[in-house]
Amino acid sequence: MLEQIVKPLLSWYDGHARVLPWREDTSPYRVWVSEIMLQQTRVEAVKPYFERFVGALPDVQALAACPEDDLLKLWEGLGYYNRVRNMQKAARTVVETYGGEFPADYGKLLALPGIGHYTAGAIGSIAFGIPMPAVDGNVLRVLSRFQASYEDILKQSVKNKFEQELQKVIPAERAGNFNQALIEIGAIVCVPNGRAKCGECPLAFGCRAKELGIVDELPRKKAKKERRVEERTVLVLREGSRVAIRKRPGKGLLAGLYELPNLEGALSDGEVLARLKDWGLSPLRILPLAPAKHIFSHVEWRMTGYAVSLEETEHMDREGLFFIDAKETEEKYPIPAAFAAYARYMDIMLGQEKYEEGKRDV
Ligand code: ADE
Repeated sequence: MLEQIVKPLLSWYDGHARVLPWREDTSPYRVWVSEIMLQQTRVEAVKPYFERFVGALPDVQALAACPEDDLLKLWEGLGYYNRVRNMQKAARTVVETYGGEFPADYGKLLALPGIGHYTAGAIGSIAFGIPMPAVDGNVLRVLSRFQASYEDILKQSVKNKFEQELQKVIPAERAGNFNQALIEIGAIVCVPNGRAKCGECPLAFGCRAKELGIVDELPRKKAKKERRVEERTVLVLREGSRVAIRKRPGKGLLAGLYELPNLEGALSDGEVLARLKDWGLSPLRILPLAPAKHIFSHVEWRMTGYAVSLEETEHMDREGLFFIDAKETEEKYPIPAAFAAYARYMDIMLGQEKYEEGKRDV
């Protein structure tokens, strides 16, 4: 049934593929970096991250040797920091086991840390021409609609079924273009939220969902488990021109990144002052800051914030805090975007904000 999509899809791609930095040079390293980033965020947001990452770490050897703080800094704001740690593990395997060259073999790619079926298919097909599918959310949407399938696309069995069907028809001589064409249709034509541009779609001729008038009902995703909500109180502790940060533990959420000191619960200013005194600090003034929210995959932080001026004494190393110049933080210490709302009070910008600087209307 999918045989019929191959030709129209490839002709459409020849005329409509966007020019993107990772499409100009399709070395396995660049394809890999771009595909992992594209699992995190939109194409437009990925572009500057991609350029900066491959500029700083141009090959797998450089990535394998990069100090962790520098690596996390390059990823700052993209989220899912374990992905970039896994990338470094995979880079080390490529260097140590494969002499620095990615293996042109789907099974061996799949065996690398952090590389699942989608990424192995994308690197395999785009960089090496291996005829294996790369099924991401875009592709699941396109195929669910084309076949008017109400099956839950979050189920592994449904994904496997689509992969098997594609594998039968994927053209050996243009495997990478075929996969990217399907992704591209999903990204710019067969889009979600009632904005599908069926009039421009090269697959409209055989699309069952279009025929039945159910495009906007598909794909079907069963509701995920609700996120846990956590209250936290975030502190911008200033001591003269310096602010306090601390390193998070090596395991768990945002492992190994730096953060503004924060406490469990939505604390009052009085409670915060008491805690600071327990830590041996000398607060002079406390000001409430606007509340903020950050959504992770499994938890949502609702944050209460305070700016606190401290007396200038030797506060170093108390409660794991260290006081540093704000600019130094911006340049050196990776701080997750969850703290962006409060980092602004230190006059620093984090991750994606930096790239959007020119666009902000402040
Ligand atoms: N999303 C995922 N992979 C992509 C690619 N190679 N090009 C554009 N968007 C994508």
